[in-house]
Amino acid sequence: MSKMTFILPGGTRKDVETKSGETILVVAHRAGIPIEGACEGAMACSTCHVIVDPAMYGRLPPPSADEEDMLDLAFGLTRTSRLGCQIVLSDALDGLTVALPESTRNLLRE
Ligand code: FES
Repeated sequence: MSKMTFILPGGTRKDVETKSGETILVVAHRAGIPIEGACEGAMACSTCHVIVDPAMYGRLPPPSADEEDMLDLAFGLTRTSRLGCQIVLSDALDGLTVALPESTRNLLRE
């Protein structure tokens, strides 16, 4: 069991427990973190956009070309932006911190 931290819009931090093999999207949904994930991990939306703590970004495997293409559609893209459905957690990522963007291209609410 590892931990990660979500920083919600507005700055509230929420620590949650994770299991190896889970994606950030799965962890977020279990913990009630408001990440939409409209395509449920099929890499067909960008509503699972998270901003990885720059100090930890180098610990992640690089994004695939498909992930980069989808990230180009995300609002508020940063140099450490990733798709939460594509980051598979492991013990090596214990303590990972990601922020939710201030807004997303929210397919369910538009
Ligand atoms: S949930 Fe749609 S790309 Fe991640």
